[in-house]
This record gives sequence, structure tokens and C-alpha cells, in this order.
Amino acid sequence: MRRGLFISFEGGEGCGKSTQASRLKSSIESAGYKVILTREPGGTWLGEQVRRLIKDQSDDIPCARAETLLFLAARAQLVEKVIRPALEEGVWVISDRFSDSTLAYQGYGRGLDLEELAKANDFACSSLKPDITFLLDVELEESVNRRLEREKKLNSSADRIELEGKEFHSRLREGFKELAAKEPARFTVIDANASIDEVQERIWTRLKPLV
Ligand SMILES: Nc1ncnc2c1ncn2[C@@H]1O[C@H](COP(=O)(O)OP(=O)(O)O)[C@@H](O)[C@H]1O
Ligand SMILES: [Mg+2]
Repeated sequence: MRRGLFISFEGGEGCGKSTQASRLKSSIESAGYKVILTREPGGTWLGEQVRRLIKDQSDDIPCARAETLLFLAARAQLVEKVIRPALEEGVWVISDRFSDSTLAYQGYGRGLDLEELAKANDFACSSLKPDITFLLDVELEESVNRRLEREKKLNSSADRIELEGKEFHSRLREGFKELAAKEPARFTVIDANASIDEVQERIWTRLKPLV
């Protein structure tokens, strides 16, 4: 049986990852493939607990290394319990964020060593990498507007990481672009400032030859 395709979505807050991941799931299903959509941190019981720990506001703010290890624990569980078994059964997997987010947030964002983080990622994922990674790139202003829009819609509030300042988010954006430049075969950078339909079309153009 052919192994499933593993696709990840990356980019800063509010760039449209969740919107596009869910649309892509429908398109792939319509093309006749089995596909699961998962998110990071989350996708397993352990992962959802980690998500809560990371998003909670507390005085005991996790230091950068602790934060990294929390994300990695969630990822290890997701790879072992969900992603690998699905791929081996020929099911496609879409992940809303994956290992590149660790390099961007904890590396470029928080200043931890990129090589050390890459090794830690490898350990957590037992070397699994996405086949295709879509980096949704939007202007910082646009991403802030979209995030606020979403908070209004869902009646939610920004979490600890979303509330980081402009410089942090700008380092993230540049970091993601550098990561994409280092692995052009895996990454497709999408200008995601356009409408939801237009961005969806750009993503599908990349995938169409594979279905
Ligand atoms: N291309 C787009 N144009 C305008 N609004 C968008 C676009 N993509 C997503 N949005 C809206 O912006 C908000 C954030 O999108 P979301 O998919 O949740 O981003 P992310 O998962 O990357 O944080 C949502 O309210 C969504 O409906
Ligand atoms: Mg999202």
C-alpha cells in the first residue's frame, strides 16, 4: 500500500492556517483520498493538556526550554499515536503546525539555538518530516486584524504567545521565510494576504499534480 502524504501548514498567528487546512481536507476528500486533520499542540489527549498548559495565563511562565519541551512532548505523542499509523495505512495527514513552528517560535522568536532545536525535533518526531509544508505569509498588520476578527467571532481572547510584541512576530515571519529558503523542495511559500478563496486556489495548484 502506498504511504499517505504528510502536509503541514505553518505561519504566524492569524495567517489562515486553520481555515486553509480545513478547506484542503475537503478538497482532498473530494479527490477520493482518506485524510485526517490534526493540530499542534493537540490531536491527542496528552497534546490537548499541553495546549491548555501553554495557553493558560499564570505567574509561573514557562521558560523557553520548558516551553520547547512541552511542545515536543505533544508532538512526540502525536507522531507516534496518530500521524505515523495513519500514513502507514495510506491515509493522508494534514497538520495545522508542525516541527517548523518550534524552530520559528523557540528558535527565531525566543533565541534558542537552531541546531539544538533541530536535533530535539528529530528526537521527538523520530525523524518524521512533512512531505509538503505550506508557509502562509501575511503582512503583520493583516495578521493582527485577522486575529482580532477571529477573537470577536469566537468570543475568545489572545493567549500568552499571541500577545508577544511586534518585534517577536516580525522575527517569526523572517524566521519562517529563512526556513523555507533552506528547504525549497519541501516548502511552498504562499502569499496569504489575498482572499480565502484565492489562497485556497494557490494551495490547490501545488497539490493538484499529486492527486
Ligand atoms: N485570506 C483571508 N482573508 C481574510 N480573512 C481571513 C483569511 N484567512 C483567514 N481569515 C480569517 O482570519 C481569522 C484567522 O484565520 P485562522 O485560519 O484562524 O488563522 P490561523 O489558524 O493561522 O491562526 C479567521 O477569522 C479567518 O476567518
Ligand atoms: Mg489556527
